[in-house]
Parts: sequence; structure tokens; C-alpha cells
Amino acid sequence: MHNATTSLDIHNLSVSYGRVPVLTDINIKVLRGQVVTIIGANGAGKSTILKTITGLLQPTSGSIRLFGQPIERLEPDQIVPMGLTLVPEGRRLFDVMTVQENLEMGAYSRVDTDGIKKDFERALAFFPDLKEKLKSQAGSLSGGQQQMVVVARALMAGPKVMLLDEPTIGLAPAVVQSIARVISEIRDSGVDVLLVEQNAEMAIEISDYGYVLEQGRVVLEASARDLANNPSVQKAYLGI
Ligand SMILES: Nc1ncnc2c1ncn2[C@@H]1O[C@H](COP(=O)(O)OP(=O)(O)OP(=O)(O)O)[C@@H](O)[C@H]1O
Ligand SMILES: [Mg+2]
Repeated sequence: MHNATTSLDIHNLSVSYGRVPVLTDINIKVLRGQVVTIIGANGAGKSTILKTITGLLQPTSGSIRLFGQPIERLEPDQIVPMGLTLVPEGRRLFDVMTVQENLEMGAYSRVDTDGIKKDFERALAFFPDLKEKLKSQAGSLSGGQQQMVVVARALMAGPKVMLLDEPTIGLAPAVVQSIARVISEIRDSGVDVLLVEQNAEMAIEISDYGYVLEQGRVVLEASARDLANNPSVQKAYLGI
């Protein structure tokens, strides 16, 4: 039976690159109304988890359920319309296209014109700074503004669950704070969030629950508050 409070349920997931195991027996849940974070060092396997959820990689074993529906054998094109979207690492945009055109690309798989229009307005409400940039080439924006466009573009797919891969890497502290604030607002608007971060401090601050990933294994899971107070987390990830 599907538990109605669980939006994303990853069960005993293992993934290999060729014959090299990268993820081993991963169990992660995202509940309705939550920001859930996965923190971990370089190369721990964070991006691999997100790529597998979105159908870019096939698991060697395990299951992934989105609102109770198995998705681990589906392609990205099938998964996005089910309500799941990825903001990949690297904030890649269509540089020579305008901001508005980039946002419209996010809705490419949709035909509900009214819904698209509503989500366009909603995306701009999350990122009001983008309103005056709609006609600018995306490549001319600052790194922080480009990250806002990438998140806004993902919202244009009309997701119920959003995966974010290191959205604040390389950004100035003030911009990190504004992206963090919007992630909380996105959660409050009814989109559940799975957030992968090396910035553990920010991630834990805005999350409800979190997982610590080391060498492809979940070594610890707890409420964000318990993670923040955990001495080994403080030492390894929070620099305390
Ligand atoms: N295409 C690939 N082929 C083979 N090995 C890969 C490939 N992509 C990643 N890996 C390896 O898999 C492991 C996990 O990589 P992954 O990118 O998931 O880590 P990550 O936690 O996202 O790291 P980062 O914080 O640097 O983004 C690493 O050891 C990496 O070298
Ligand atoms: Mg990564």
C-alpha cells in the first residue's frame, strides 16, 4: 500500500558505473511538505542518486516510487510529466536565448496553456528580480541570476517534487541566502524538495530531515535538528 504522506520512496537502491558499485542499498524517503537533504563530500554519490531518480541512470537493484508508482525503469520523458523534475548541477542554460525563452523551455512537455501561464507568474513571484531580465540573454546574467532562472525553469514543468543538485555552489553568501529562502517558499507552496548540497550548514538550516552519504552509503539519517546537534556531523560537515 502506498502511504499518502510519502511522495518519493527510494528502497534498497544500488547503482554501478560499469562494474564499479557507486551506490549501495540506499533508502531515502521524502514526505509531503518536506525539504529533505542529502549531504556528503565530493564523490559520495549524491548526483548519482538524483540522476537515477530522474531516469538518467538505471539502478542495478532496488525500487523508486513516486506517489506509489514505480519509476525505476522509466525514462526521464516519462517521469517529468508524473510531477518530478531535476535542477541539475552546473546551472546550464540556453545562453543565447532570452530568460523568457529559457523559462518557456521548462514547460516543453505541457499542453495546458492556462497552467503554464499560471506557473510562469508563480515562478516570477518566487524570483521577482527576473521580471526585468525576461528579454535579456540568459548568458549575460550573473551566476546567482542564472541559478534563479534554472530553478524557475524547473518550476515551469509544474512539479510536485523537485530535486536540486548543489544549487548554491560557487555563489556569494547573500545569493546563497536568497536561494535558500526560495527553496523554503517552494516547499511551502506544495512542492516537496530533495536537496543535495555540500553546503551542509545551509542545507540543514532549511531542511526538515536529512541523510548523510559517505562512499555511496547512507551512514546517518535524522531530523534536521538532530543532524545539526550531532557531534560527528558538526565535526565532519559543519566545521564546528
Ligand atoms: N560517468 C561516470 N563513470 C564512472 N564513474 C563515475 C561517473 N560519474 C561519477 N562517477 C563516480 O561515482 C562516484 C560518485 O559520483 P557523484 O557524481 O554521484 O558524486 P557527488 O556526491 O555528486 O560528488 P560532487 O559533490 O563532486 O558533485 C565518484 O566516485 C565518481 O568518480
Ligand atoms: Mg554531484
